[in-house]
Formats: sequence, C-alpha cells, structure tokens
Amino acid sequence: MIGIFDSGVGGLSVYREIRKLLPAEDYVYFADNANCPYGEKPVDFIISRAREISEMLIGKGADIIVVACNTATAAAISTLRAEFSDPENPATGERMLRLSNGSRDHILFIGMEPAIKPAIAMTRSGVVGVLATAGTLKAEKYRHTRDISHGKIRVVEHVGEGFVELVESGELHGDHAEEVVKASLQPLLDAGADTIVLGCTHYPFLMDVIKKITGQSVNIIDPAPAVARHLIDVIKEEGIPVKNDSGCHGNIIPMASGDDSVLRRMAD
Ligand code: DGL
Repeated sequence: MIGIFDSGVGGLSVYREIRKLLPAEDYVYFADNANCPYGEKPVDFIISRAREISEMLIGKGADIIVVACNTATAAAISTLRAEFSDPENPATGERMLRLSNGSRDHILFIGMEPAIKPAIAMTRSGVVGVLATAGTLKAEKYRHTRDISHGKIRVVEHVGEGFVELVESGELHGDHAEEVVKASLQPLLDAGADTIVLGCTHYPFLMDVIKKITGQSVNIIDPAPAVARHLIDVIKEEGIPVKNDSGCHGNIIPMASGDDSVLRRMAD
C-alpha cells in the first residue's frame, strides 16, 4: 500500500498521476486540513505533524510514503528519512522495532521539489517564475537547488497568495478565483517569465484559471508526473510489493484531520 499525505487536498494532484501508472495499487491518503495551510507554519510544527502522520500511515499498512507537499518536504523529509528509513541509526531503535512488526524493516519517502531544472531547460526568455508557499521559498533545500542551477537564467518567485484556500474550499473557477490567482501570477509575467513552475501541490488544481491568465505561450510545469515516474523507479529498485494486475482498480482510503467532505469529493 502507498501512503500519501499533504496539508490538505493538494496532494491529490500527485495521487492522480501515481494512480495513472499504478491503477491496481491500494492507497491511503491523509489530508492534514485541520492544520492547513502549512505555508507559514513553523518548521518544528511541520516536522512533528509529518512524523505523526507517517506513523499513522505505516500503521495503516503503507510500505512507501509520498510526501505530496512541497512545504512538508522542504521542512521534514530529512528528519523522516533519518528516523524511519535509516536502519543503521541508533537513535531510531524504538521506531525500527515498531516497523519490524510490519512487512518492511524501513520505510522509503518520496518528496516534492519545485521543478526548476526542467524549467531552466525550457525557457526561451531566460526568466523562470516559481510559485510556491512562503515555507518552500525560504527553505534551504529549495534555495540550494535554485542557486546551483540557475546560471544565466533569472528566477523570479512569488507566493501563491490565497491559492491553497481556494482549492481547499473547492473554488477552482470563476471571477474571484481569477482575481486571486492573477494577483500572484501577474508579477511573474511582468518580469518576463515564459515558464512557470508550480511549486505547491495545490496549485495544479487551478490550472484552468492559471492558463486563462497566462495564455498558451507560457509553459506551466507541474512536477507531479515526474514524481510519479520517480516513484515507479524506486519501487522497482527496492522491490517494494505493489499490485500490477491490469484491469483491476485499487482502493483509496481518504482520511483527514478536519472536515473530509471536499477530500472525499475530490478523491472520487
Ligand atoms: N500543498 C502544499 C505544498 O505543496 C502545502 C500548501 C500549504 O498548506 O500551505 O506546499
């Protein structure tokens, strides 16, 4: 079983890509929507939530966990890997014992990262825009990737102000959604960006609105398909058992820390 989590429904944009490649597999999806948005929350808080959620997903039978949230990946994935994935780490003794009751002796984590490198390869104007949460944009992990890869390309950034709230309330179209999206997107277009990276898993659900504002000449990069392909490679390399029977549809268990109505509707 594959475990997936996010601060809310955004991670479903990653789930739908994984599901295209592994339709027969079973999934457990956790939306921490009682604590959404993660974007401005302290790193320690996100680490502690990521740890608790991972333990819960493992308890439900997850063999591998997709941190389908850029903000949580930036804040917590190194801690999760150190605590759940490293069989040599003496500090993890208690947790390893707990894991040894399950099918695997360590758990693998797949994370999200803003797709700056493909964007740099794609731009013709020499300006790449990144839309992400405040937490992702200030994280060491993101800044490192940006700084080693941009060379002569200019990278301009903007927080997608209000995007997560739109998606969590299921408001994916309409005048208000367009107004909110435009306020964060226009500065990137004004700076000359012809390629825009969606660095938050909620944002792809606003793709129609985003494209309406940018027009067809601007490339919009959603990293979810690449993450799904990477997951398949890891599953093969590590020999993680997954269901592959063609024609068979796996289940998704949708879980939320708050109201689960939007999650259930979108998961369906
Ligand atoms: N979907 C998340 C991300 O990819 C989190 C957004 C939020 O909760 O602020 O960053």
